[in-house]
Amino acid sequence: MRICVIGTGYVGLVTGTCFADFGVNVTCVDKDAEKIEMLKRGEIPIFEPGLAELVSKNIREERLSFTTDLETAIKESLVVFIAVGTPPKDDGGADLSYVKDVARSIAENLNGYKVIVTKSTVPVGTGRLIEEIVGSVQDEHSFDVASNPEFLREGSAIEDFMKPNRVVLGARSERAIEILKDLYSPLYLIETPVLITNVETAELVKYASNAFLATKISFINEVASICERVGADVHMVSKGMGLDNRIGPKFLHPGPGYGGSCFPKDTLAITKIAKNNDFTFKIVEAAVEVNERQTQIMLEKIKRALGGDLKGVKISTLGLTFKPNTDDIRESPAIRIVEGLVKEGAVVSVFDPAGMEHSRELLAGSVSYCEDSYEGADGASALIILTEWNQFRKLDLERIKGLLKEPRIIDLRNVYEGDALRAEGFQYVSVGRERLSG
Ligand code: UDX
Repeated sequence: MRICVIGTGYVGLVTGTCFADFGVNVTCVDKDAEKIEMLKRGEIPIFEPGLAELVSKNIREERLSFTTDLETAIKESLVVFIAVGTPPKDDGGADLSYVKDVARSIAENLNGYKVIVTKSTVPVGTGRLIEEIVGSVQDEHSFDVASNPEFLREGSAIEDFMKPNRVVLGARSERAIEILKDLYSPLYLIETPVLITNVETAELVKYASNAFLATKISFINEVASICERVGADVHMVSKGMGLDNRIGPKFLHPGPGYGGSCFPKDTLAITKIAKNNDFTFKIVEAAVEVNERQTQIMLEKIKRALGGDLKGVKISTLGLTFKPNTDDIRESPAIRIVEGLVKEGAVVSVFDPAGMEHSRELLAGSVSYCEDSYEGADGASALIILTEWNQFRKLDLERIKGLLKEPRIIDLRNVYEGDALRAEGFQYVSVGRERLSG
């Protein structure tokens, strides 16, 4: 089978490459000629462990190719995946202009039956919209529109594609479902559950899943604030909750809030979808609000630990990305906190193993950039952990203590054990594990 994937962003590139690895012939298309040239050389514009190797292997084995020639790619393919961006508009809704442009191009190049599949996260109703666009441009060839949402986490996207918890296929016609099932047949060996639904349901599964996970994080972050007020330990509360099969242990880790390219965008989008349909999605609206407040709560925590006034106080921060193993700083709580510290007048230094380049423009001149985890600690009044990169989990504490002006670690990702650090003479502050003082 030959398929094409339109859009070589995060989702498109991972999807196209993994299908090629399944043995499918895949053409990845993008209008950005420079990017396509890079990809042809096997150079990957994004940070994703294992992806470069997989791209090179499948180019070599001639199952994966890259082109700007959208027309030919569509004409040669039975299945056309739409994986272009759906950036948020000012009102929180998703901007569908790229999706609509692609739908028109597909219609103009239809030369026989095809399945048109949305892989980008699109508002409920987009499948129908694509159907209308393609149907209005041409009526010569038959086609089906399907929804096949992705559930890829940055940093483990390949594993998530190859060993998914589930595959969701939404389509009206049996023919389209059979073709898509065939495409995913390598996953039958590992008995991946495949959920067959209508298009609208598949579109909503994606938003509902992300909104639920975001709510789970906001929930535990609020529980952490209660823990600090009553003398409870949030880790034990999470553990106690997570042992209940109905709750599950994951996504109950407190911290500075969720970030990234999906949760912030998708939570806003689902509340917008509800609003457009005369309904208020109260829980998710609250989860968004809680996530925004979390930055403020973290800044207050830092101020309290440092005696209230941050003016002129030297602070070393570790971590800029929204989570480890990515270079993505979009909507990163670490960035929001660094900006907040700067605003309070602190003298801030930053270090991140992968997120420094992307943050330079954003933080322009307001912070100093360090070469490693230790440089910023020299003469600083606190070391703050903002992202839980592995290399921050086992710092040379003796060295840190020798460098810091005052031995103080503020661990907003709860990677250290408080008692151990206190025994080494540090003032240690984390999230939801020490009683709020002052
Ligand atoms: C997410 C979804 O997991 C994925 O299924 C979807 O398709 C895209 O969005 P991703 O954005 O890569 O993936 O990040 P994820 O690993 O889910 O983490 C999201 C954010 O939540 C991070 O900022 C992380 O630090 C935070 N988080 C996660 C917590 O604060 N606590 C937790 O317990 C879990």
